[in-house]
Amino acid sequence: MKDIIITTSVKNTLELNNQAQKLANELNLNYIKRNKTTIKQLLATVRGVIVVYKNKLSYFENNSEFFFHLDTTALKIKNSDNEPLVEIISKEKQSVLDCTMGLAGDSILLSYYGHNVTSIEKNKIIHLITSTGLKNYISPDEEINKAMRKITTFNCNCIDYLKRTPDNTFDIIYFDPMFSHDITESNNLDGITPLADTTFPYEEFLQEATRVGKDKIIIKAHFKDNIFEKYNFTRIVRKNTKFHFGFLNIDKKPKIKH
Ligand SMILES: C[S@@+](CC[C@H](N)C(=O)[O-])C[C@H]1O[C@@H](n2cnc3c(N)ncnc32)[C@H](O)[C@@H]1O
Repeated sequence: MKDIIITTSVKNTLELNNQAQKLANELNLNYIKRNKTTIKQLLATVRGVIVVYKNKLSYFENNSEFFFHLDTTALKIKNSDNEPLVEIISKEKQSVLDCTMGLAGDSILLSYYGHNVTSIEKNKIIHLITSTGLKNYISPDEEINKAMRKITTFNCNCIDYLKRTPDNTFDIIYFDPMFSHDITESNNLDGITPLADTTFPYEEFLQEATRVGKDKIIIKAHFKDNIFEKYNFTRIVRKNTKFHFGFLNIDKKPKIKH
């Protein structure tokens, strides 16, 4: 990965410096000693900056900052506003593969409601920030902490993951690819926009997901996206919402020829 550096907060300690250097080695990025340099000054010479703070990791690029937080997810849980995701699954304790983890909002929701979640994220930095948050972030709600800690994550392309996974491994395959329309409408994900992959190989994905999944493939996409109709997803229409969910029941019965 080019032109992305790792540094610490201005207020730093030996421990923070060591942590930043260790991360830089793991991710094959350059570590820069912060001194009193501002993020703006650093961004004048590089594409992005990962900053190791005492209790937080942030990624800066252009004018955006990406860091792990629970804002919308905690609110949804508090208001029991699960979106139709939990209702679509309808059964308890399902094994779910979230193929597009992002900030893990949907993974946390699913884990909170008792499902066993494995989450895949292709981008190294998004995976680093989210998986660190899932391990270390402390919410005042102990049930949310438990839900975060039991999610298993992998940093890879979900297509590659699906291809090496045996048939019928997960009950549910979920995906929420980068939106095809006006990405800025999702303020919650603003920070990941410069990093996230916006292309998605739907056909290949659906073929593998049908093999690896047992019960349903679920998608979240912008309401204007024609993906629902194109691939025969049953769309759950919600008034006044920009994003809709859709599902496909996986049918593995052999077709009888007459
Ligand atoms: C819209 S975000 C997902 C948001 C997530 N549902 C949440 O609640 O925070 C899409 C994420 O999928 C990731 N992504 C895109 N293509 C991918 C792929 N082929 N494999 C794994 N992750 C992918 C992007 O990098 C981005 O982080």
